[in-house]
Amino acid sequence: MVSRRRMIGAALATGGGVLLMRTTLRPAASLTPAGPDAADRHGPGHVHESATPTGQPDPGPDAGPRLAGKFSLAMPLPPVLSPVSTDGGTDTYAVTMLQVHTPILPGRPARVLAYNGAFPGPVIRARSGRPVVVRQTNLLDEPASVHLHGASVPADSDGDPMTLIAAGRTRTYTYPNDQSHANLWFHDHAHHAESEHVYRGLAGFYLLTDATEAALPLPSGRYDLPIALRDARFDADGNLVYRMDDPFNRTTILANGRPWPRVEVAARKYRLRLLNSSNLRFFSLKLEDGGPITQIGSDGGLLERPHVTDTVDLSPGERADVVIDFSRYRVGTGVTLTNAMPPGPPEHVGQVLRFDVTRAAHDPSSVPARLRTLPALPEPDRERTVVLQVDEDGRAEPRGMIDGKTYDPDRVDAAITHGTSEVWTVTNANKDVPHNFHLHLVQFRVLQRNGQPPGPEECGLKDTVRLLPGESVRLQAVFDTYRGRYPYHCHLLDHSAMGMMAQMEIS
Ligand code: C2O
Ligand code: CU
Repeated sequence: MVSRRRMIGAALATGGGVLLMRTTLRPAASLTPAGPDAADRHGPGHVHESATPTGQPDPGPDAGPRLAGKFSLAMPLPPVLSPVSTDGGTDTYAVTMLQVHTPILPGRPARVLAYNGAFPGPVIRARSGRPVVVRQTNLLDEPASVHLHGASVPADSDGDPMTLIAAGRTRTYTYPNDQSHANLWFHDHAHHAESEHVYRGLAGFYLLTDATEAALPLPSGRYDLPIALRDARFDADGNLVYRMDDPFNRTTILANGRPWPRVEVAARKYRLRLLNSSNLRFFSLKLEDGGPITQIGSDGGLLERPHVTDTVDLSPGERADVVIDFSRYRVGTGVTLTNAMPPGPPEHVGQVLRFDVTRAAHDPSSVPARLRTLPALPEPDRERTVVLQVDEDGRAEPRGMIDGKTYDPDRVDAAITHGTSEVWTVTNANKDVPHNFHLHLVQFRVLQRNGQPPGPEECGLKDTVRLLPGESVRLQAVFDTYRGRYPYHCHLLDHSAMGMMAQMEIS
C-alpha cells in the first residue's frame, strides 16, 4: 500500500526532475492530482491518538464540495481585536481559547477551536516600538501554547511546544515589537497537538506596522484585506474532520474561514495580505486570466522593490503581501483566484475565491518602485547543514526527523553564540515528500535555492521557506537579539507533530 505521504510527493513530483530542478515551483496544469485515498484512511501517520480515535465511523469523502456552492458566500474579514488597556505605552489584549460552533459551510455549525470564538482568529494590529501584552486564557479541555510566528520575542513568550497553558489557566505573553513591520500570525504550538489545534481554528493574524510602511501610498483601509487560505475536510453534517496526515481528503478551500467565497471589490488597487494557514497544502496562486499580481512583501515585511508576477507560491506558514489592480476589469465581471497545486480534484482545489468587480472607485494609491532598504548581511561566523526527512518506507508510524532525529525538548541541536551570524544549508532529503523550514526568533535571508540566486519573491526577509523533494536552500540569519532556546521545524504541521522539529540555543 502506498502511503498518502508518498502520494502527495508523487503528485508534486510528476514531471520529474524538471519540476524539482526549477528554482520556483511552476506545476503544470496537467498534473494529475490523486483522488481521495479511501483504502488508506487507517494507514500510516496516526501518531496522535486523540486525533484519530479508533472505532470512530469513517467520515467518508470530504463533503465540503457537495455542501458548499462556489462563490456564493461573501468572504468575511476577521474581526480586529481591541486592547483592554493601552496604559504605559503598552497595548494589552485578552484572548480566550474556546470551543464554539460556527457555520463554516452554509447553515451547518461546525465545532471549532477559536481565539475569542472567531474562525479564523481575530487580527491583532501592532506598531514597532510599542509592546503588546496578550493574556491568553485556555478554556479548552486540553493544554495549548500560543506562538507568534515570525516574531522576535524573549524565549518565555515564544510559545514553544513544551511551555503549555493547562486547561483553565491563563498565560501572559509579552511581545516587544522591536522589529520592523511584518505580517505575522499567531497559532497553537502545543507539541503533538499543534497540528489538530491549528486545523480546528487556532490561528490569527498579527499585523505589525512601522513608520516606513505607513509612509507608503499603498492601498489601505477598506482596500487592504488580510486573507488566510487553507484547506479542510468535512463530514456530511458539515463538521471538520481531522485525521493526521490527510492531505488527499482536504479538498475544500477556505478563505477567512468560508468555502470558495466571493470578494466584492471596486475597480481599483487592493492590497491583499495572504497567509497559507494550511497544515499541509501548498498553494500556487494565479488570477484565472493570468493577470498581473504585484508582490510587495513576504514573511518579514516589504520587499525592497515590488515584483510583478502572475504566480504566488505559498507553503504552509508563508505569507505574501500583494497588490492587484482591478481597474483592468469591467465593472460587473468576476475573476477567480486559482490554485495549480495538487492534491485534490482541480475543479475543487483548483479554485480559491472569486473577486467580483462591482463598482468604480477613485484610486489615489500607488506602489512605489522602492519600498524599503534591507540591512546588509554581515560576514557569516559559521556554517551548518540541516537535513529534513520523513520515513518514506510505508511503516505504520513514520517519523519526522531533522538530521536523523525526532524532536527532543531536552536536547540542544544547534548551539549558537549570541551576536553571531550563521549560514544554514537546509536540504529536503525525501524523494517524494515536500517540506518547508521555519526558524523561530529570526527573520533570515535566502542566499541560494538549489545553488542559484533566489527569485525576487524570496529576496526579502523570510521565516519560512519551501523545500520540495530534493531541494536545498542556503539561508543566513543573525542571532543578536534574545538568548535562550527556540525551536526550528518543518511547518507542515502534521510533520512537526510527527517529530520534525529541533532546538537551537543562543547563548
Ligand atoms: Cu508557525 Cu514553530 O511555528
Ligand atoms: Cu515536512
